[in-house]
Amino acid sequence: MKKFNVITAAVVAVVTTWAGWIMANEEQPFLPNVDPKTGAISVPEDYTLWPTLGTWTHTKIDDGAATIHEYHVVYTQPETIEYYQKKRRFPDGAVIVKELLHAETMSMTTGPAVGHATTIKGFFVLVRDTKGRFKSSPLWGDGWGWSFYNADDRVKTVSTDYKVDCIPCHTPAKDLAPRNAQKDDKWIYTLGYPVLQKK
Ligand code: HEC
Repeated sequence: MKKFNVITAAVVAVVTTWAGWIMANEEQPFLPNVDPKTGAISVPEDYTLWPTLGTWTHTKIDDGAATIHEYHVVYTQPETIEYYQKKRRFPDGAVIVKELLHAETMSMTTGPAVGHATTIKGFFVLVRDTKGRFKSSPLWGDGWGWSFYNADDRVKTVSTDYKVDCIPCHTPAKDLAPRNAQKDDKWIYTLGYPVLQKK
């Protein structure tokens, strides 16, 4: 009986140590909005608590009058801004969310054509990946994970291939990027984000 207890204790000790080792060595999930197995990206739940990187205004001419019909509001984590200001590059795990908003224009006490946002139209999400993760996913590559979402589904992207869906439109950003920017950071339209230029 005694011998049996000793063996049991030894087995329990080995299993506990082994489980602890596995847990300690298990790779930390990359980000809460990235599926660790497939690399599927979703819109981060808390992104509206993040600082705004910048805003793009889309204007059209209606009967000779300019009206603002859309805003693109871009958010990122506070740590990403701090890191970029110091190191002049985006850190691994930086998430950039671009919210597309419908807008209306009206005359207000501040001016004759003042725009304001109304409802959300969709989201673009970029995730900086300096390690070449998810090589078999067509939504990861060139240093980033790329996805677009319609307003009614923040979990499932409608993007299928970033090389077709995103790259052609982000190629002009390369010529607008600071000359000394990192190769993969040149996909980003940083000229619209003066907060990154500080320091
Ligand atoms: C029609 C052209 C076009 C397409 C398609 C496009 N982008 Fe963009 N994207 C832009 C432009 C131009 C900007 C900055 C100005 C603006 O938003 O109007 C931008 C900005 C962004 C931003 C904010 C960061 C930055 O680069 O300034 C994110 C995030 C983004 N795009 C993600 C994506 C992803 C992901 C895809 C593919 C699913 C994609 N975009 C497809 C043209 C495009």
